[in-house]
Amino acid sequence: MVILAVETSCDDTCCALIEARGKKRVYFKILSNIVSSQTKIHRKFGGVYPSLAKRKHQKNLPLVLKKALREAKNPKFDLLSVTVGPGLEPCLWTGVNFAKNLAEKWNLPLIPINHIEAHIFVNFIKKHNASNLFPAICLVVSGGHTQLILVNDFMDYKILGETRDDAAGECFDKTARILGLSYPGGPEIAKRAKNFQKSKKNLKISLPRPMINQKNYDFSFSGLKTAVLYDFKNRSNKKRLSKNYINEMAAEIQQAIINVLLRKTLKAAKNHKAKTIILGGGVAANEKLRRDFKEKTKKDLPKIKLLLPEIKFCTDNAAMIGATAYFYWLKGGKKNWKEIKANANLKIDESI
Ligand code: KG4
Ligand code: ZN
Repeated sequence: MVILAVETSCDDTCCALIEARGKKRVYFKILSNIVSSQTKIHRKFGGVYPSLAKRKHQKNLPLVLKKALREAKNPKFDLLSVTVGPGLEPCLWTGVNFAKNLAEKWNLPLIPINHIEAHIFVNFIKKHNASNLFPAICLVVSGGHTQLILVNDFMDYKILGETRDDAAGECFDKTARILGLSYPGGPEIAKRAKNFQKSKKNLKISLPRPMINQKNYDFSFSGLKTAVLYDFKNRSNKKRLSKNYINEMAAEIQQAIINVLLRKTLKAAKNHKAKTIILGGGVAANEKLRRDFKEKTKKDLPKIKLLLPEIKFCTDNAAMIGATAYFYWLKGGKKNWKEIKANANLKIDESI
């Protein structure tokens, strides 16, 4: 079957067409996956400005849909899906109303999708054997969320821990802003960190690893942001900050975030006897994070399989929404489109 998916939970307007088949073994073919990014518009605010994002989604959606259909060579499709939460309320409603209109116009079923769940399911876009994955520990790290989730089976979730303040991606974005780097901060910090070279002249900047030794699975990143701000202010009082300072600070920010995420994820995997560790969300696109997770899992928990989404599927896209919809379709999950609502605070263990 062919699925048309719509995603507008944050600042990206996304439409995708994906072909899906199989039951026990599922196969997907991405026919098109269009992401129209608003980052340039939001850059001057250093983050996403919801009412502006909503207006842009309204304007972009028909164009992005047209492009997705054209790229997929106008296939006949059978099913619609849309993100209903979590996310920015006005943005979510734009996508939901758009998809509901399509459902009415074309008389097609519409499946409501949880954005966080889609960041996990995107790992199954490649052909996979669904058996022997569970229990799994999923780390979802994005601009809006940082959660450790125990997955006992498809659609059977328990949130083990989450951030008490800023999300990991938000920490990248906010610290980048302090350093004068542009939005979104994650890729900018990663780029500077790559330029950092260890030498005797290093300032040996040392940031905290918040909550790393605590027994729970919660996170906190706002203290890290404050530590960066103090260091930056202290040093910039004295002189103009060099490129080397920015590079070194970027490397330390990146490593502090990775260390905390890695330690807590591996601990959860070990304690819950997980067979798989699954990563998802924009921060999972970070190359150093991917490398550290691969190396440390192989070394400390060699029996555990690590699933990493392809980099292009880490950040927000609609292909992940369509893929998740297929799993719900297989389970017989249909809903009267008239009843579908956006829910900005939707939790992964909450039914839609
Ligand atoms: O999943 P996503 O596209 O949107 C949300 O659901 O929030 O994640 C966006 C977040 C941003 O905070 C961005 O800075 C971060 O992911 N990000 C990265 C990288 N690419 C995107 N963070 C670290 N390294 C990257 N390479
Ligand atoms: Zn996301």
